[in-house]
Amino acid sequence: MPELYKTSAWEFLEKSSHDRETIRHRPRPEIADTARYKTYPDAEKTELPVEWSPQEARIQSLLQQRRSLRRYNSTEPLELSDLSFLLWASQGITARMGGHFLRTSPSAGALYPIETYLVVENVTGVESGLYHFDVGHFQLEKLSAKVRSTEAARVCLNQDFIVDAHLVFFWTAVFRRSMAKYGERGFRYLFLDAGHVCQNLLLAAEALDCGGCPIAAFYDQEANRLLGINDKHETLVYAASIGRK
Ligand SMILES: Cc1cc2nc3c(=O)[nH]c(=O)nc-3n(C[C@H](O)[C@H](O)[C@H](O)COP(=O)(O)O)c2cc1C
Repeated sequence: MPELYKTSAWEFLEKSSHDRETIRHRPRPEIADTARYKTYPDAEKTELPVEWSPQEARIQSLLQQRRSLRRYNSTEPLELSDLSFLLWASQGITARMGGHFLRTSPSAGALYPIETYLVVENVTGVESGLYHFDVGHFQLEKLSAKVRSTEAARVCLNQDFIVDAHLVFFWTAVFRRSMAKYGERGFRYLFLDAGHVCQNLLLAAEALDCGGCPIAAFYDQEANRLLGINDKHETLVYAASIGRK
């Protein structure tokens, strides 16, 4: 197996990066569009019931209500307990299996390559700034008081709605945590893991009567610099803004 920097995963990562200078001019492959969903017209059909038991209805309402929310009611801050619940729901440790600490989100091989960084903008009792989530001790680690939601929005292709968010989650992937075991295929798992984490967060936000928006449009190197990470080892893969409705 080639070393990390000689893999096709690494080449793909570099080729699919956004940066401020080249984003408008970089040629995009012309890929023909296709239908929004598939059907098999000749197949035998089974009608599906849409009445849920009370137990199913508990999660049904969260799933039904979730919509990407891009307008936040910033007059009312979030509480520290809300922030804590969101971190627990997205990445909290829930069990121990041998040497593995299992979490709320599934992870390929229980390797958990995703790290959580967080821009706190509007939370009672927490100074605004950039934090890292120490999952083992269930604590926030303050990295900088200077990084605010304005900077978060800037590295996310200047998407203005992010400025008003109460929180901005940034999920990075530590390549070797997954790729040392799975090689090139481990690269796919990084993104799948991040998707699980984000969906848990969005549903937990909904349970708090808040909302959020997943974000994958960002300037990779700029974002990595903002988080202060070494992008030879770790890179931003996904983000989400969270706020009150
Ligand atoms: C991988 C991914 C990346 C996304 N990136 C962005 C983004 O950068 N900015 C944004 O406003 N919405 C982003 N979205 C949100 C989608 O636009 C949204 O999920 C879609 O329009 C469906 O709407 P819904 O989430 O309200 O159901 C992203 C969603 C996904 C799954």
